[in-house]
Amino acid sequence: MSGGAMTDTTWTPGEAAARDPRNHPDLPWWKSAVIYQIYPRSFLDTDGDGVGDLEGIRRRLPYLAELGVDALWLSPFYRSPMADFGYDVSDHCDVDPLFGDLDNARRLVREAHEHGLRVLVDFVPCHTSDLHDWFVDARSSPDATHRDWYVWRDGDPSTPPNRWMSAFTGGPAWTWDGANGKWYLHLFLPEQPDLDWHHPEVVDAMFDVLKFWLDLGVDGFRVDVVHLIGKDVPDGHDVPDPEPAPLTHELLRRMRTLVDAYACEPVLVGEVYIMSTRAVASFYGRGDELHLAFNFPPLYAPWDAAAWRKRIDRVVEELDPIGAWPTWVLSNHDNTRHRSRYGSAEKARAAALLLLGLRGTPFLYAGEELGLSNAVIPADRRVDPGGRDGCRAPIPWSAGPDHGWATANPWLPWPPEADTADAAAQEADPGSFLHLYRRALAARRRSPALRDGAFGWLRSRAGVLAWERTAPGDRRVVLVNMTGKAVTFPGAFTLLVSSSPADTTWSGTLGPWTAVWLIPA
Ligand code: GLC
Repeated sequence: MSGGAMTDTTWTPGEAAARDPRNHPDLPWWKSAVIYQIYPRSFLDTDGDGVGDLEGIRRRLPYLAELGVDALWLSPFYRSPMADFGYDVSDHCDVDPLFGDLDNARRLVREAHEHGLRVLVDFVPCHTSDLHDWFVDARSSPDATHRDWYVWRDGDPSTPPNRWMSAFTGGPAWTWDGANGKWYLHLFLPEQPDLDWHHPEVVDAMFDVLKFWLDLGVDGFRVDVVHLIGKDVPDGHDVPDPEPAPLTHELLRRMRTLVDAYACEPVLVGEVYIMSTRAVASFYGRGDELHLAFNFPPLYAPWDAAAWRKRIDRVVEELDPIGAWPTWVLSNHDNTRHRSRYGSAEKARAAALLLLGLRGTPFLYAGEELGLSNAVIPADRRVDPGGRDGCRAPIPWSAGPDHGWATANPWLPWPPEADTADAAAQEADPGSFLHLYRRALAARRRSPALRDGAFGWLRSRAGVLAWERTAPGDRRVVLVNMTGKAVTFPGAFTLLVSSSPADTTWSGTLGPWTAVWLIPA
């Protein structure tokens, strides 16, 4: 296929050799990468409209390269009426003017590559906006070209075709279209009608979207609610909730073939929103479906060693035997930030070494490297129909009142740390979250054991997670004390990184809510 060769990938000297996949024939880049999620609305506004933009991301590329992440995943910046803040796409191949234009996107991808950063974009296959030309056409007449691209049902206006519920409204996943005398399906908002992937033209059109962005130079996709693309839509009142169907797996194999034909080794990371790790594992296929799949049970685990151990064991049991590479994530644009969930800065700092010490590809959510909490959103500032505003607060880059943004009044209130721990203040403080993440990311990058080595549990006290990572000639020990008491750990080690700014050497004792990475003596 032609597209791959067109990717404009200009690596900075020094990064080039280490990052060139040809120098690691057995190890695809995404296995040793740390991926950083950017929610463009909230990253940095450069034009004063209160909403972040692509230019804002471009300006922070040096910061991201210095942080030490390997790739960026950008949440949607496509044309959208913003009913679901960009996850309601009205043109998949254009940039919403709020964020800039296609030239901004091209420049961002090119300059990210120059900084040694790969770029993943969000691919939203399950639904479009109701204002997408396809749906506008679909509802215009029974003979419309795009009519069957969506899921319609005849029936009685008082009884939806089945009992499926929409994710955010609490009401049926069906809206009655009076003009057509039919119901249409939307697993999310009524403004997000579901596409029907049983229709071959939908498959072709959506695969063209993938090709468009690959040809523009992106390095892969985060695929939104991917487990439901090929769902069957049964009628009747006793049908179960939407489930993955054989068509979904067939479509994923075709998607995989499409992206694998590109020379830049694009990655498909699926949002498989199923709370069973065994079910998540099935989306890797036989190495021929998703390269990576989000596994959310650990994100929802409490700050409790036994609970975490169980979640980690499930990953080892379900993914290892089929050769599937795990992912790990603590925060994103849909969930309360983990500092707020765990309830303290100490725990959030320890969580950084937990996340980055596991075997698999970690995902960071912009602002987690600054230890941000959820913002408090007064009732009159709430905008998200899904109640997720708090984790989408703007990133404070420097002192107030504008915190580096082109306005002091962004679309959502600032997070609580804005006035005490903005990025510039953290830059100047060696004990800050930012420096902890930088140290950990640098240590991870330098250690084959931490990057992609084997994982094995070590014996430890109750309440402490202890494991080792090993690669030929390299061994690292990870300890996470999830209790509020100091605990000892036997053996001779030197300290590589501690989550506690007070630690400079390894004393044999792990402080309360502290995690360390150790090098065996
Ligand atoms: C995914 C996204 C979420 C969005 C939903 C509908 O879960 O992460 O933000 O609202 O899909 O597209």
